[in-house]
Amino acid sequence: MNAEVWGNSKIRGEVSVGGAKNAALPILAASLLASKRIEISRIPDLADVREMISMLRALGMEISFVNNTVSLLPNDLKGDISGFSSGIRASILLLGPLTLKTGKAKISYPGGCSIGQRPIDIHLNGLRKLGFRVSVKGKVVEAVPMRRPRQVNIRLSFPSVGATEHLMTTASIMKGTETELLNCAKEPEIVDLQRFLNSMGARILGAGTSRIHIKGVPRLLSVHHEVIGDRIEAGTYAILTMASGGDLIVKGITPSTLNFVDVLRKMGGVISIHDNSMRIRASELMPMEVVTAPYPGFPTDLQPQITVLACKAKGISKITEKIFENRLGHVEELKKMGAILDVVGQAIKINGPQVLHGAKVVGKDLRETAAMVIAAAIADGPSEIENFEILFRGYENVVEKLNKIGVRVITS
Ligand code: UD1
Repeated sequence: MNAEVWGNSKIRGEVSVGGAKNAALPILAASLLASKRIEISRIPDLADVREMISMLRALGMEISFVNNTVSLLPNDLKGDISGFSSGIRASILLLGPLTLKTGKAKISYPGGCSIGQRPIDIHLNGLRKLGFRVSVKGKVVEAVPMRRPRQVNIRLSFPSVGATEHLMTTASIMKGTETELLNCAKEPEIVDLQRFLNSMGARILGAGTSRIHIKGVPRLLSVHHEVIGDRIEAGTYAILTMASGGDLIVKGITPSTLNFVDVLRKMGGVISIHDNSMRIRASELMPMEVVTAPYPGFPTDLQPQITVLACKAKGISKITEKIFENRLGHVEELKKMGAILDVVGQAIKINGPQVLHGAKVVGKDLRETAAMVIAAAIADGPSEIENFEILFRGYENVVEKLNKIGVRVITS
């Protein structure tokens, strides 16, 4: 799908963010463990979420998804969905829970965005420590529970978000096992997952810190859970507003989760945060050195977007990507729009302010495409974005929302 985006936008008005994709996906995967009907609200209607729901259906769960609410009823589950080739990396989160529910699980090796190799060794090594036999044969990952340790300490070699969630979820239902996870990721979506699991009867402490303690319970019961607001969606609209010199209210946020606000304020953003909304304005933009890092550091998922903002700031900015090895694809696209960017290793150097011209660009990854939209919205003429539909993986109702706040987008 192509989208035509008119330039010279001035962002105004209000927009609401949906529930966090990165909380919804692990929560949906963990819902495999429920032994009664559960209901989860504020599930964003996104391509990635629909894919996770399709996988759960393929496993045998009965699911309805209406008005952002998912209702799930566990049935007899199939353990082998290796024939279902998944485009989302979060599909790996099904492996541990499914193995415990069915005695043996086979899933296809997870896909995902084109931002580097994205190995799953931390997931698989953790499952092995939890007593599983795990093997990768071609494109299929297989796991079988072999023994149940009484006490186990697992130190993650890197604070991987997905591996923290996967191991925490799996260990939650291993009765008789006490698990200590060390060097955990601290993302707010992990805290939301802990809240979800504990309200079903799990006994997990410490999510949001680097040390998580889990006492396995025999089963998880019924729950109604509401997912937190999407901080990356909020950050994307905030950056768009600043880049355009606009004034926007973003509603539906979870204020305690916003790890981009300090950087945006240092770049000249005037940001006020209320109970569940924030207002963003900016006049003069300042240059900035930004290095992506695990939470509470600056999120890699906003790195392409902030690169565009840095193009509009007066002076030299340096943006360094430290989480993914191949997440600088937006640089080539921004160059097509006239940006002058120097890449040295994983860092982008930008001497601003720069004028961006409308151009034909291609979206290859979710967040890079979001950056293309921001660039196109503030360019001095119309742009065409190829593969625009990638945005539907992570931005709910994005065309409607953009048009409402002042970016003219027409898809074809
Ligand atoms: C999650 C987010 C994604 C975000 C990322 C980093 C979801 C659904 N997705 O992805 O939007 O960009 O966190 O904040 O929540 N790694 C390994 N081996 C592993 C696992 C990870 O080497 O077994 C490496 C990855 O290649 C990457 C880094 O660790 O370089 C971070 O990955 P991870 O934190 O696992 O990201 P995801 O959970 O996949």
